[in-house]
Amino acid sequence: MKLFDVYPRFKVTLEKAYGVYLWDDQHRQYLDFYGGHGVISIGHSHPGYIKRVNQQLDKLVFYSNSIYLPIQDELAQKLSEASGYHDYQLFLCNSGAEANENALKLASFYTGKRKVIAFKGSFHGRTAAALNVTDNLKLSAPLNFNNFPVKYLELNKEKPLKDALRSDDVCAIIVEGIQGVGGLDAPSVAFLKFLSQQSKQHGIILILDEIQSGYGRSGKFFAHQYADIKPDIITIAKGMGNGFPIGGVLISPEIKAEYGLLGTTFGGNPLACAAGIAVLDVMKKESVVTNVNEVGGYLKEELQQLPKVKQIKGKGLMLGVEFDFPVKDIREKLVYDYHIFTGSSANPNLLRILPPLIITRENADTFVKALTGVLS
Ligand SMILES: Cc1ncc(COP(=O)(O)O)c(C=O)c1O
Repeated sequence: MKLFDVYPRFKVTLEKAYGVYLWDDQHRQYLDFYGGHGVISIGHSHPGYIKRVNQQLDKLVFYSNSIYLPIQDELAQKLSEASGYHDYQLFLCNSGAEANENALKLASFYTGKRKVIAFKGSFHGRTAAALNVTDNLKLSAPLNFNNFPVKYLELNKEKPLKDALRSDDVCAIIVEGIQGVGGLDAPSVAFLKFLSQQSKQHGIILILDEIQSGYGRSGKFFAHQYADIKPDIITIAKGMGNGFPIGGVLISPEIKAEYGLLGTTFGGNPLACAAGIAVLDVMKKESVVTNVNEVGGYLKEELQQLPKVKQIKGKGLMLGVEFDFPVKDIREKLVYDYHIFTGSSANPNLLRILPPLIITRENADTFVKALTGVLS
């Protein structure tokens, strides 16, 4: 059987990884400045992570949510400490799209309404509801049309939002902490505060998609915490499991659970929870968020000094290097000549950088030197 060929790929065959490095089948070493779509948070195959997941493998791999699994509470407790969302509730699932799917459903259940406000350039996933609030028509199949109504607005513009809220059928506003796939545009602190205030005033659920910008990547545990707001719902995935598939929905205490409201077979399975706990333990023990600020700040400054760079977008270790020309060739040269992985985005002129959150200044220097070489 052949694989369903939907991904353009680099001609590299990966065999193993450790920390910030990957190795191919020719034993060549690569520096990971992409983290496999921003998934690798504490570094590839971190020993503490391997140990914790292995211990769980020996004990209990899976049972369904029909039986009490205390490891889920342990994860929720550690997430509450790391994020500061002590009174929120956690629903566990398996991916980012699934987290947003459940978040949107909850908003609709809670308000009894069905219209959603999303933003231009957004990416929230490829399942039906998540896709419906994703600003890319090319990803939709015919059956995805005629879903619930969505209004796409410009980020950081207050008047269109006020106008859109005149209609009384809105259940949710969904926004990324920092847009990832769209190309690193972000809601400003003032706009996030405005969204929070407006959603409260109109009884609308504010959903913050922190699937890519969360888990310390922005330099705070959640990117929206720069604005000191508390959304009603926060969605998480990617860095949460450092490669093990897991997602989650943080839910305000205002939204009450009832049996059968949401459900999943695999969500919250013990192995995924063990991976999630290991990530939070390592983040705490190794002060990973502090490292994001130190190395991210240093990297941004260094990148700003490079010739041909138009601007550096993003925060922490979620950065976009924008040029006046497409970055496709730059990315290829970085992989084949300098052995460094980077990412692309909807903006063809933007190089997306999402390294493991444990990179060092030396790793940053290696990257800047390589990019200088490519640009010369
Ligand atoms: C902000 C954001 N939301 C949702 C998703 C979807 O996550 P997943 O691919 O795990 O379904 C992504 C994936 O790139 C994302 O960046």
